[in-house]
Amino acid sequence: MWAFLPLSFFAISAVRATTISADATISVSGSTNATVNMVAAAWYAGWHSEDLPVANVSWEKYTHMTFSFAETTPDVRNVSFNGSNPEVLPDFVATARKNNVKALVSVGGWTGSRFFSSNVASAENRTAFVKTVTDLATKYGLDGIDFDWEYPGNQGIGCNVISPNDTTNFLAYLQELRKDPVGSKLILTAAVPINPWKGPDGNPLTDVSEFSKLLDYVAIMNYDISGPWLSYVGPNAPLEDSCAPSANQQGSATSAIKAWTTAKMPSHKIVLGVPAYGHSFNVNASDAFECTTDDIEVLAPFPPFNKAQQPIGDAWDDGAGVDKCGVQNGPGGNFDFWGLIDAGFLFANGTAAPGIDYRFDECSQTAYVYNETSQVMVSFDDTRSFAAKGEFVAKNNLRGFAMWEAGGDSQDALLDSIRKASGFDDVEDC
Ligand SMILES: *[C@@H]1O[C@H](CO)[C@@H](O)[C@H](O)[C@H]1NC(C)=O
Ligand SMILES: *[C@@H]1O[C@H](CO)[C@@H](O)[C@H](O)[C@H]1NC(C)=O
Ligand SMILES: *[C@@H]1O[C@H](CO)[C@@H](O)[C@H](O)[C@H]1NC(C)=O
Ligand SMILES: *[C@@H]1O[C@H](CO)[C@@H](O)[C@H](O)[C@H]1NC(C)=O
Ligand SMILES: *[C@@H]1O[C@H](CO)[C@@H](O)[C@H](O)[C@H]1NC(C)=O
Ligand SMILES: *[C@@H]1O[C@H](CO)[C@@H](O)[C@H](O)[C@H]1NC(C)=O
Ligand SMILES: *[C@@H]1O[C@H](CO)[C@@H](O)[C@H](O)[C@H]1NC(C)=O
Ligand SMILES: *[C@@H]1O[C@H](CO)[C@@H](O)[C@H](O)[C@H]1NC(C)=O
Ligand SMILES: *[C@@H]1O[C@H](CO)[C@@H](O)[C@H](O)[C@H]1NC(C)=O
Repeated sequence: MWAFLPLSFFAISAVRATTISADATISVSGSTNATVNMVAAAWYAGWHSEDLPVANVSWEKYTHMTFSFAETTPDVRNVSFNGSNPEVLPDFVATARKNNVKALVSVGGWTGSRFFSSNVASAENRTAFVKTVTDLATKYGLDGIDFDWEYPGNQGIGCNVISPNDTTNFLAYLQELRKDPVGSKLILTAAVPINPWKGPDGNPLTDVSEFSKLLDYVAIMNYDISGPWLSYVGPNAPLEDSCAPSANQQGSATSAIKAWTTAKMPSHKIVLGVPAYGHSFNVNASDAFECTTDDIEVLAPFPPFNKAQQPIGDAWDDGAGVDKCGVQNGPGGNFDFWGLIDAGFLFANGTAAPGIDYRFDECSQTAYVYNETSQVMVSFDDTRSFAAKGEFVAKNNLRGFAMWEAGGDSQDALLDSIRKASGFDDVEDC
C-alpha cells in the first residue's frame, strides 16, 4: 500500500507536520450517533494587549477566543471597554477570522457585572440591552458574546445591583436575544460559577435546561475556589475535593460537573474553565512543613497563613488600591504561570528551582511551591495539573476547556498539556 503512494503525499505530510489541528469531537450527551466539535478557548484580557499582542497569540491551538471585558454601565444602552484597549479589537477579530478561530467579546467580568441585574429587570430594559449587545456584535463583526455575569442572584464584587428575579430575567433576556435576527446567529456562551446560578428562592437552580437551549456552552469557572480570603492555604483550582479533609472542601471541577449536569446542563455544553495563575500566601516555616514517617520534611497541606502580610504577585497583579465599590483592598497576590518562572520559583520548563520546595497535591491535582526565605507559598496549576484536567474533560465528555487568561501561560506549556490530554489531535512529526 505504501509503495503506491505518490511522492506528493509525503510532501503534504511534511507540511502538515508543522501545523496543529484544532479539531477534536465529542459525542452529544445522550446520543450515540451525533458528535460536536470540541472547544479550545481562552479569554484575551484587552488590558494585557501590550504584553500579549494580538499577533503573538497561538491562534492555531484555539477554536474560540474571547476578548475581555465590555463592562455593564448604569445606562442599559451602553457597555464600556474602559481600560480594555478596544482599539485592538478590530485586529483581534480579523486575526481570529484569518485563523479560523471564533471571535467573541465577554460582557461583564468581576468588576463589570454591576448593572446586569437592572439591564434585564424589565421588558423595556431587556429590549434595550438586546440592542446594546447586538449593536456591539455588529459593530465589530463578532462571532459571539460571552456573558460573564458574576453573579445572577448572588453578590459578586460587593456593589452589584442584585435581585431574586435575576435568573428569571436573564432567561427572558436570552430568549429575546435569540429571537433577534442578529442574536439568533451569534455564538452565546456564559462563564458560570461552580454551582448553578441562584434562583428566586436563593438556592441553586435545579433545572437549567431552558438556558441550555439558548447557550452554545457554559464555561465553569473552577478557579478562585480557595484563596487568601480563606483562613488556610488551599487549591486555587481543585479537580477533586472529596478526598480533602471536610473542613477544606470548597468544591471542585468534579463537584461542579455533577451539580450542573444534575441541573440538566448536558455535558457536551460544559467547558472546563482553567487558570493559568495561582494565589500566594505568607506562611511561617513552622507551619509550611510537616515530617513524613521516614522523618523527611515535606510541605504541609492546608497551612494557616499571615493575612496581614499578603505577598505581592507578579507584574500583572492588582496592587493595593480602591476597587469599583470604593473599598480599599490589599494586593491580590496572584502569580501567572509565566510570573512563577519570572520570579524564579520555577525553571522555564516548569520544574521547581533549587531552594524552592514543591508539593503536588494528589487529591486536588494541583501544585504548591514555597520559598522558605521569603515565606511565600503559591498554590497553582502546573502542566501536570493541566494534563489531569484535560483527561477529566475527555473522560466526562465535556465540550472542552477555556483558560483564564491567554497571556498567563509560558511558551504554551499549560495549553499544550491540556490540549493533548483532552483529545486535540496535534499532528506530530512522523
Ligand atoms: C441518530 O439516530 C437516530 C435513530 O437512528 C436518528 O433518528 C437520528 O436522526 C440520528 N441523529 C443524527 C444527528 O444523526
Ligand atoms: C511578539 O512576537 C514577536 C515575534 O516572535 C517577538 O519579536 C516579540 O517580542 C513578541 N512581543 C511580545 C510583547 O512578546
Ligand atoms: C450611550 O448610548 C447612547 C445610545 O446609543 C448614546 O447616545 C450615548 O452617547 C452613550 N453614552 C456614552 C457615555 O457612551
Ligand atoms: C475609566 O477608568 C478610569 C480608571 O479606572 C477612570 O478614572 C475613568 O473615570 C473611567 N472612565 C469612564 C468613562 O468610565
Ligand atoms: C432600566 O435601565 C435604566 C438604566 O438605563 C435604569 O435606570 C432602570 O432602573 C432600569 N430598570 C429597572 C426596572 O431596573
Ligand atoms: C420579581 O418578579 C415578580 C413577578 O414579576 C414581581 O412581582 C416582584 O416584584 C419581583 N421582585 C423584585 C425584587 O423585583
Ligand atoms: C507566624 O509567626 C509569627 C511570629 O512568631 C506569629 O506572630 C504569627 O502568629 C505566626 N502566624 C501564624 C499563621 O501562625
Ligand atoms: C526567595 O526569597 C528570597 C528572600 O526574600 C529572595 O531573595 C529570593 O529571590 C526568593 N526566591 C524566589 C524564587 O522567590
Ligand atoms: C528543567 O530545567 C532545569 C534547568 O535547565 C534542568 O536542570 C532540569 O533537568 C529540567 N527538568 C526537566 C524535567 O526537563
